[in-house]
Amino acid sequence: MKIGVDYYPEHWDKALWEEDASLMKKTGVSVVRLAEFAWSRLEPREGEFDFSWLDEVIELFSSKGIEVVLCTPTNCPPLWLYEKYPNAVQTGRDGRKIAIGIRGHRCYNDPDFLRLADRIVDLLTSRYKDNKAVVAWQIDNELEANFCFCETCTGRYREWLKEKYQTLENINKAYKNNVWSGEYSSWNQVNPPFGSYNYAWFNPAYMLDFNRFASDDAIEYIKRQRDIIRKNCPDVKITTNTWFCEKMIDFYREFSELDFVSYDNYPTTKLPENPEECYSHAFHLDLMRGIKKQNFWVMEQLSGGMGSWAPMSRMPSPGMINGYSLQAFAHGADTVVHFRWRTAVGGAEMHWHGLIDHSNVPSRRFFEFKELCKTAKALEDLRGSEIKSEVAILYSADSEYAFKIQPQTDTMYYLEQLKLLHNAFLKLGVNVDIVSEKDSFEGYKVIAAPELYVADEFVAKRLYAAAENGASVILTNRCGVKDNHNNCIMSPLPTVFRTLVGASVEEYDPIGYDSVDIRFADGEVFKAKQWCDIINPETAEPIAFYDGDYFKGKCAAAKNNVKKGTAFYIGTVGEKKLYQKIVKEALELSGVDFIEGIPDGIEITTRESQNKKVWFIFNNTDKEKSFELFGKTLTLKPFEMKIQRA
Ligand code: GAL
Repeated sequence: MKIGVDYYPEHWDKALWEEDASLMKKTGVSVVRLAEFAWSRLEPREGEFDFSWLDEVIELFSSKGIEVVLCTPTNCPPLWLYEKYPNAVQTGRDGRKIAIGIRGHRCYNDPDFLRLADRIVDLLTSRYKDNKAVVAWQIDNELEANFCFCETCTGRYREWLKEKYQTLENINKAYKNNVWSGEYSSWNQVNPPFGSYNYAWFNPAYMLDFNRFASDDAIEYIKRQRDIIRKNCPDVKITTNTWFCEKMIDFYREFSELDFVSYDNYPTTKLPENPEECYSHAFHLDLMRGIKKQNFWVMEQLSGGMGSWAPMSRMPSPGMINGYSLQAFAHGADTVVHFRWRTAVGGAEMHWHGLIDHSNVPSRRFFEFKELCKTAKALEDLRGSEIKSEVAILYSADSEYAFKIQPQTDTMYYLEQLKLLHNAFLKLGVNVDIVSEKDSFEGYKVIAAPELYVADEFVAKRLYAAAENGASVILTNRCGVKDNHNNCIMSPLPTVFRTLVGASVEEYDPIGYDSVDIRFADGEVFKAKQWCDIINPETAEPIAFYDGDYFKGKCAAAKNNVKKGTAFYIGTVGEKKLYQKIVKEALELSGVDFIEGIPDGIEITTRESQNKKVWFIFNNTDKEKSFELFGKTLTLKPFEMKIQRA
């Protein structure tokens, strides 16, 4: 496995470069990522280029055997560009150019910006095309969906709609624009969501499509750069570093255009006090691996306390630097690049800590990182080894957008039940793939499909077929609510999934901050919150009942036999233990092996290659844990990872 660092030579006096590169070499760093914000240093004035410093830096790393990931520097165009071509700046919801001064202000579609971006990407990629040290290209930095409201982007939005619907009549019909006299009679009336209203006030059908457009349009921007890189460097792998942000790009469509997934991973440095919170970044890591169903990179990994625009957070406590990186390996990363080698002494991010502090004296976190480099080296043979999983959790980009557009009830958010289910599988020591609902379900014996809110009949059919063939599937409340246009389906919930779960929803109550108990037939009682579906079991058997409120005694969860398999329906949002109970039964019914008695916060996963299996056993807590595993007592310090070869 490889460990790398994000390095900003343009921030440091040249005299430091050699010192840094030598220390990196000594420490065991094998990759550096460079230049994602360095455009003004590469093209200080329009058409005047200076690659000499980058040549020197690449040569320096190459001479030490350190590989380089080069980035296209388009996140931060130089100020001369914005001055000369003011339309290159994004337009906000108020129809005005946004104020520049931070970063990422570029409009993905402005012709001048694109012309100059193409040129710098072309020059960079042709300059380093034969440089063997350059092992990958990163496009831009942490791209977001396109929420620019300029005329050019509005034009592209209209084109996107024309291609999808051809006529305004079709859009009016699809969006049900007869509500609030919203029918379009000319294309000029079709605009992005201008104004200062909360997005929840707009027609949800229109907003979902706008999100889809904004995502597709950002992907067009990615493809444009990808094509230039590919033309010049046909054999070098291309990625972009993704993250979870407000204006998300659909991960699956995005990375279907690129060679590998890379992710910016900043796990928490302060564990939540509420034991019901799901804080494990294993969830995000499994999701990243599931995007292309292949191993991925972490392009930015937590190295120090976070801060700058927000008050500073706790520093990573002893064990975290090491443990969190090894956790990424345990869930499918092959390379983990730490953000950043040095903490900046200038600029807005001077308190977002890297591995070496302002003091310039390597200390505790640095020494822990050095240990990590050693451990990673010893795991070199595991690069490319696979995480095999018989369990999948389905993720739906449309459902996540739709949940964000229309919050369902107080405190409810789309990812919560996905995380609760993931937590339950983790607690039983099974590997989990988090995959797109559109992906193949082949090979999965247990499929959790929580909150498939924007329903897709094709997904419903495939889930039914999987259950018929012996899989256990787990559905939850808010499945089947919307059609593909984000309009409500006029049929008893969970609509397209009703036959699969063998039950319908008689009535529901979004209880928000309130809670109610639910009781299982065996007497076990769990707290439920946020939402209560009052279930009417049809072919299904009720397995839990509400134990309070006006729906006391009504069914809260049900189980349906579907030929060789089973479908569970959970009508509420429960505490962690509720999911553990259902998940355990689902695994048993489908014959998936699991481990019982794993303490809370211990995460066990496996990677395999050529019949060699390696166990990763991680203590993702701040307490020492002792427990029995395979007949032996294991003791793990806080955030310690034990790696056992079979
Ligand atoms: C990431 C970003 C980096 C840096 C880091 C810490 O989101 O890609 O450039 O800003 O966060 O703030």
